[in-house]
Amino acid sequence: MGSGQTVAVFGAYGHTGRFVVAELRERGFVPVLSGRDADRLRALAESHPGLEARPASVGDPASLDRALAGAAAVINCAGPFAVTAAPVIEAALRAGIAYVDVAAEVEANVDTFTHYQDRARAAGVVIVPAMAFFGGLGDLLATAAMGDWTAADEAHVAYGLSGWRPTGGTRASGVVSRQRRGGARVVYRNGRLDHRRDEATTLLWPFPEPLGTRPVIGEYTMADVVTIPSHLSVPEVRTYMTTEAARDVAAPDTPAPGTVDERGRSAQTFLVDVVVRSGGIERRAVARGQDIYAVTAPLAVEAVHRVTTGRTRAVGVASAGEVFDAPDFLRALSSHISLELPPRRGDRPGVRSGRAVHAARRAAVVPASASTAPARTHTAPTADRPLAVTEEQPRPRRGGTPGGGADGPRGRGSRMACGAERDW
Ligand SMILES: NC(=O)c1ccc[n+]([C@@H]2O[C@H](COP(=O)([O-])OP(=O)(O)OC[C@H]3O[C@@H](n4cnc5c(N)ncnc54)[C@H](OP(=O)(O)O)[C@@H]3O)[C@@H](O)[C@H]2O)c1
Repeated sequence: MGSGQTVAVFGAYGHTGRFVVAELRERGFVPVLSGRDADRLRALAESHPGLEARPASVGDPASLDRALAGAAAVINCAGPFAVTAAPVIEAALRAGIAYVDVAAEVEANVDTFTHYQDRARAAGVVIVPAMAFFGGLGDLLATAAMGDWTAADEAHVAYGLSGWRPTGGTRASGVVSRQRRGGARVVYRNGRLDHRRDEATTLLWPFPEPLGTRPVIGEYTMADVVTIPSHLSVPEVRTYMTTEAARDVAAPDTPAPGTVDERGRSAQTFLVDVVVRSGGIERRAVARGQDIYAVTAPLAVEAVHRVTTGRTRAVGVASAGEVFDAPDFLRALSSHISLELPPRRGDRPGVRSGRAVHAARRAAVVPASASTAPARTHTAPTADRPLAVTEEQPRPRRGGTPGGGADGPRGRGSRMACGAERDW
């Protein structure tokens, strides 16, 4: 599949880098192992006989040029990306090859779009930031859920993690990212990124089975607030994280991920529930799988595979949903992720699709406790009184486009099909 093409992996001996190296090999690519620690690179190369180790450091551009020499693309797995992204992108631009990273740092993702768009386009190079579980997967799901919509009022990305044992890289990146935003939360509201310093709200999110309704932290800072609005016309992007996982990752004594199977995955399971809403209509897409670090590897490697075979829709800096055919990309990961996507055009009407299944159990986000969000008085949903109009019903006219125009529900509460006032 990879046709023996060489792909440089910077940060190859890190937890995520190792998954990426293994996935590249499995897909027929030849990884070049790179990173700043020559001893750790050598040790990794011993477990992958035949692979070349090329030490490089972000402070030494010539070493990065050597690491990328002859490669078709580079995957940057070394975080904090506030430090590594720019030097590795510069090296990729010098080499004229694609750059993919797994950054979950909102500020680093913004920097990549801000500083490299023009040069990457001029060079004809594809740069995909956040091509990973956080940022990339949510964007692919949101794009797939949008289908033929060109705009929507809201996108909601709810992460249902069974727990979250963070790696050292996740902790270090979290520290750097929080410092860069002065401890604030980053949200995407009214068509722009904003910083919020008030306490995040705890809500209940109605995940599909097997999770069911769970407490989540609302507006939990996630890379999706950069990737989704980078190409989709959606003025509100909300992200949610199950409270247990948010607690785990914040606790200083939570251990690093363990291994429970031959692929090296941990026991962690995830469910990503994405809802896009336009007027009274919603569409959704769901992904389930195991281990957020492990699944990042097939996401990044599939991206490289598509870039190196010309299956791209954009050049320059672009997030996953913009540069790739999102439903097709997601379906290509079926051995790693189980999916419920809206039906493709031409699917028989009335078929019980993923979306229809979800519409049947559609629920509102309701406060987890009156004390945490006393102002929110959403009507609890029931099976015979769904809160939202669904795609299967006639679409109300909203200014002629799914975006809903000035009458959209944003910002002042909306009266939905059941008559419930909602303010999310
Ligand atoms: N978006 C997502 O869903 C997603 C998924 C997976 C990972 N990530 C991100 O990817 C990064 C790595 O995660 P991980 O799980 O692999 O962590 P890890 O096991 O701690 O590995 C971190 C890697 O980054 C390297 N590194 C750190 N600073 C460096 C620098 N200044 N120069 C060169 N190399 C440097 C480390 O090398 P040394 O050991 O020599 O420091 C190591 O190879 C983190 O930022 C994490 O948040 C994001």
